[in-house]
Formats: sequence, structure tokens, C-alpha cells
Amino acid sequence: MTIYFTFCKIIYRYLIIIDDIWDQNVWTILKVALIKSNCGSRIITTTRKVGVAESCCSDFNGRVYHLAPLSHGDSKKLFYKRIFNCEDDYPNALKEVSEKILKKCDGLPLAIITIASLLASKPTKTNELWYNVLNSIGSGHENGPSVENMRGILSLSYRDLPPHLKTCLLYLSIFPEDHMINRDKLIWGWVAEDFIHDKQRENLYKQGENYFNELINRNMLQPVDIDTHGSAKTCRVHDMVLDLITSLSAEENFVSILGGQQPLSTGNKIRRLSIQENNGEHNMLDKSMDLSHVRLLFVFRSAIDMIPSLLSFQVLRVLDLEECQHLDSCYLKDITNLLHLRYLGLGRTYITELPKEIGNLQYLQTLDLRETKIHELPSTVVQLRQLVRLYVSIGTRVPVGIGNMESLEELSKINISESPNFVKELGTLTELRVLEIWANGWDSSYEKPFLEYLSSLHKIQILSVFAADVLLDFTSEGWVPKCLQTFWAWDSPFSILPRWINCSLQNLSIRLNKIQQEHVQILGGLPALHFLELLVIDHPEN
Ligand SMILES: *[C@@H]1O[C@H](CO)[C@@H](O)[C@H](O)[C@H]1NC(C)=O
Ligand SMILES: *[C@@H]1O[C@H](CO)[C@@H](O)[C@H](O)[C@H]1NC(C)=O
Ligand SMILES: *[C@@H]1O[C@H](CO)[C@@H](O)[C@H](O)[C@H]1NC(C)=O
Repeated sequence: MTIYFTFCKIIYRYLIIIDDIWDQNVWTILKVALIKSNCGSRIITTTRKVGVAESCCSDFNGRVYHLAPLSHGDSKKLFYKRIFNCEDDYPNALKEVSEKILKKCDGLPLAIITIASLLASKPTKTNELWYNVLNSIGSGHENGPSVENMRGILSLSYRDLPPHLKTCLLYLSIFPEDHMINRDKLIWGWVAEDFIHDKQRENLYKQGENYFNELINRNMLQPVDIDTHGSAKTCRVHDMVLDLITSLSAEENFVSILGGQQPLSTGNKIRRLSIQENNGEHNMLDKSMDLSHVRLLFVFRSAIDMIPSLLSFQVLRVLDLEECQHLDSCYLKDITNLLHLRYLGLGRTYITELPKEIGNLQYLQTLDLRETKIHELPSTVVQLRQLVRLYVSIGTRVPVGIGNMESLEELSKINISESPNFVKELGTLTELRVLEIWANGWDSSYEKPFLEYLSSLHKIQILSVFAADVLLDFTSEGWVPKCLQTFWAWDSPFSILPRWINCSLQNLSIRLNKIQQEHVQILGGLPALHFLELLVIDHPEN
């Protein structure tokens, strides 16, 4: 009996944390699901609204704790650390103005970091400049409500951005709150919209990365996943920043949001449309709405049943339906009218085919078909001469003639068993920077030509080859890559390390038959290596 009781107690004890409840109604719905228990369980909720906090507490006999702002000392540390990279060594001349700025920040960490990031981004640090910044923080009383001060500080940071970064930041208002935003996808969108300026086309992506990093440095974006190059692969927008850019974006008629917090305002031309959630009430797409000027459409997963017909659009450049799993392949039949399309994101949908007129989309730069159920790409795909990035899923066959797509820079998840012709065509894709191929169970006669063709790809930076039962001799003299940064070769064990493994390599994953002292020395001497995965097949001989 006693044992049973204890067991029960363990099962039913819980700790639940619900972060950031904005609205009383949300709590009213949630609380129904929570069991009142008195054997030591806890529910913690956080909110910015006293009313919400009080109602949570009265329902569960809890207590409201007010989160204290940072102390003056800690505020100072945070501020100087961000600007001068040390906590207590700063010019005396800036002391007075710093105190005044900190007073405005009111101990709010986000405010302190944001304003410090702004000051850090300036080439010079003078009293006068800092006073200018202080004076432009805005009206909020010196000790006024923190949220208002915060808003003032964020809009100051926004106004301080150069015009091209303002545009790129406003673009982020497409994404719903707390959405994890993939860096590459973001940059391709900017490129497709012509937000990035560089004389040379091949530098656009690199330049986009600079913009992205600059927005992170200025604390307008929060980095999430950090990759081997030390830069973020995913980012998030703080909800206060999102609030700001969503309202600026509505003011400037930059992005129209359907199914967000605010009803869609109708008076203006719609230029970019983000359909976020089907929350019923105030948010159905009005049939009479004019979509003929829309240049970007993002539809998020939970809004798939609100998707407008593609026939409504005429000048669409960016179309993203990623993760709309139940999208019907038929929906795409009208895509061929979208002659201006540059970006088409269909990753993680379960579509099974593309219309064969896809080849008409002469300006298409990015075609993302990752994790779809497409078995075969239409042969017209090879007419997409501007296509820079093609991502298919592992079961997708690519057509003969792919070697003519001379703009291709990134190609991923090519399965050689599905597309054996690909090996022969590889040699002409000389712009390739990224190549990921799977070659299990291929014909061994491909081996030599494959390495030969590979050696004509002088720009290759990221190469992943997953090849079971194939012996690819990457150590032969035939293949000498010049600027390889990432090399992943699974299932092809090496006996010696290739000579070309030298200083540019950052990310390496290989198998070795045996590990010897000399291997360790070579690997130890790679100055840029951030990531190493080494599988050793034999144990060292004693
Ligand atoms: C290393 O490269 C692989 C293959 O491109 C990639 O999936 C992985 O994320 C990279 N690792 C890091 C830590 O960046
Ligand atoms: C590649 O295609 C072949 C043939 O369709 C299939 O058997 C194999 O599983 C595919 N490879 C992977 C890694 O899925
Ligand atoms: C690295 O190796 C490649 C190929 O052997 C060579 O072209 C390049 O000059 C080498 N780089 C350095 C810095 O040694």
C-alpha cells in the first residue's frame, strides 16, 4: 500500500514553466488543462502584464514575484563589456553620459545590450556622439515606464541602421513570433528581392552574410545555432524587435500579415504577403483583394487552408511554402505563369511532382525541394539557366542535361543510383561550390571518371560524398582541390591522408583504416579546423 502511494506521488508531480503569457485569454484556456495538485508540484508562468500574473496566482494560490531589473553595478558591467570588451576600463570623459544612458535603460538587459551595440558599431567614441545618441532615445521620462524607454531605444537602433539594413530587417517581419529563421533561406530571399548590392553576382551571398552578421552585431537579430565558421546558422527576432518592425512594416506598407496579431489592413496595395495562422475571426483573405502587385508570398504550415490561388499573382518573385505538408501537387500547376519567380521553397512538403512547364521560369535562382516525395524532376528543369541552388531529396531523379545548368553553385542530395548520368555531366558544372552526393551501390566503373570530373570543379568549397561499397581514392594525384573548406567522406576509408589536406580545411569527417602518429600531426597542424569527426576502423597495433 505504501509503495503504491509513493509511486503515485512520483508520477503526478510536475514542474511546468509557461513563458511569456501576453494575454489573459490564453491563460483562461491553458489553466483548464492543469491539474491542481498539492503534492509538491509547481507551475511557473512569466508575463509582462501584472493582470495576467495576478490571475494566474489567484487560480493556483500562488505568489507574484516582480523580476528585479539589473542593479546599477551589473548594468554598468554589461554596458562597458559590450562596448570596450572589458568591464571597468573605459575613458573617464564618457562617464557622465554613460550614467545618463544607463538611467534611461532602467536596468533592462535588452535595452542595455541594444544601445551598447549601437555605440560599439560607431568608428569613434566621443562624448558628443554619445550625447546625440542619448538625446535621440526619445521622449520616455527618465524614470518612466520601462517598456516605453525600451521602445525608444529599439527605434533609435533601427533609425541608426544604413538604408540597406533597414530594408533587410523589415523583411524579417514576414516571420511569426519565435520562428527559427534559417540564415541561408533568409539571404536567398534578400537576393531574390534585390536587397543586396554588389557589383559581382557571385559575391551576393557573401555580402548577404555580412548584412546578416551586422544585424546580429547590432543586436537586432539573436543568433541561435553557431556553425564551424563561428557564424549563426539560425536566428530569431526578439519579440519586442518584432513588434517594432511589424508596425513599421505596416506603416510603410512593406509586408502585409494575415493571421498575425493584427487584422490585415486593406486600404493599400499588397506588396508582400505573409499568411501565418488560420485564426478564423478577423482574418479571411477577401476574394476581392487585389494580389496582382504581390512580389512575395510566405505561407506557414498552420495556414495552408488559406492559401490563395496562384492565378491571383502576376509579379511574384519569392514563393515559400516550406513545411506546408499537405500541399497538393496540383496546386502548382499554375506556377508556370509566374514568370518573375526567383525563389521557390517547397522543402518538407509532401508533393510528388512538379509541373513540366517549370522550365518556363527563366529567372528562377533557388529551387528547394528537400524532403519532398518527388520521384523525378521534369526534364525541362535543365532549361533553368539562372538556377544557382538546387536542393532535391534523396529519392529524386535528376534529368539528363543537368550539366548544361552552368549557373549552378549548390547542388545537394544527388543519388547516383537514381541518376547515373549525373557522373558524366558533373565536369561542366564548373561554378559548383557545394556538392552533396550519395553513391551507395554504384557501378565501380564510375570511380575514375568521377574523380576526373571532380577535378574540373575548381571552386568547390563544400563536398560531401556518402559512398558505401565504393572505393574512391581521394588520395590520388588526380584530384587536388584548391579551396575546400568542408570535406565529408563516409564509407570510403583512407589509408593515408591526402596531401591536399592543408590549411583551408575547416570541417572534416573521414574514416581512416589505421591511425598513426603522422596523421595526428597533420590534423593537429590544420589551423582553421573547427570540426573533426574521425572514425578509425582498426585498433592501433601494439
Ligand atoms: C560540417 O559540414 C557538414 C556537411 O556540410 C554540416 O552538415 C555540418 O553542420 C558542419 N558542421 C558544423 C559544426 O558546422
Ligand atoms: C538511392 O536510390 C536508390 C535507388 O532508388 C535507393 O535504393 C537508395 O536507398 C537511395 N539512397 C538513399 C541514401 O536513400
Ligand atoms: C593547400 O593544398 C593545395 C593543393 O595541394 C595547394 O594548391 C595550396 O597551395 C595549399 N595551400 C597552402 C597554404 O599550403
